[in-house]
Amino acid sequence: MRATRLAAMGLLLAGGLGIGAAALAQAPAFNPIRTRQDGQLLVLGSFIGMRTGLMHKLPVKPYAEPAMAIARWMEQYPTLFPPGSDKGDNTKALPAIWKNFAGFQKDAADSAAAAKKLAMLAKADDTAGFAAQFKVVGQTCDTCHKEFRAK
Ligand code: HEC
Repeated sequence: MRATRLAAMGLLLAGGLGIGAAALAQAPAFNPIRTRQDGQLLVLGSFIGMRTGLMHKLPVKPYAEPAMAIARWMEQYPTLFPPGSDKGDNTKALPAIWKNFAGFQKDAADSAAAAKKLAMLAKADDTAGFAAQFKVVGQTCDTCHKEFRAK
């Protein structure tokens, strides 16, 4: 097994460096469900910030980076749905994701593209364009949630 050999090499290396094997053994495991859920909550935080800014007619330029972060996050998002991550941690991911993974990936790509455009409009300080595109991005969230997320 490749993983076993890698782990053994890690232990050898740690031994050589004088790091206790216990420290390696305690490295917390990657949890894709928690990662994707908490990431979505951060996306929501950015989204609420933008909506509040629009309501108060604040400049949109500072939203360029958060909008680009949403785009880049959405590009990676489908990688957080490995087979077997359909249960546990109160996941709301529906079986439809794994039945129609291509459709799920398309929704994520559409959302990424819409958020990328939002970032460009922010960078250009185009408030009216940003406000219109903000709605488009919101629709991409709804489209995916309707098909792939439990209520
Ligand atoms: C490609 C599909 C897809 C897109 C696009 C998408 N989401 Fe989600 N979202 C999901 C899925 C699936 C879950 C459930 C994840 C889980 O529980 O494992 C989720 C969960 C969430 C949650 C709940 C997190 C929690 O655990 O409490 C929030 C909030 C959220 N999304 C916000 C958004 C916002 C805002 C957007 C748009 C900017 C968006 N999502 C775009 C698929 C998507």
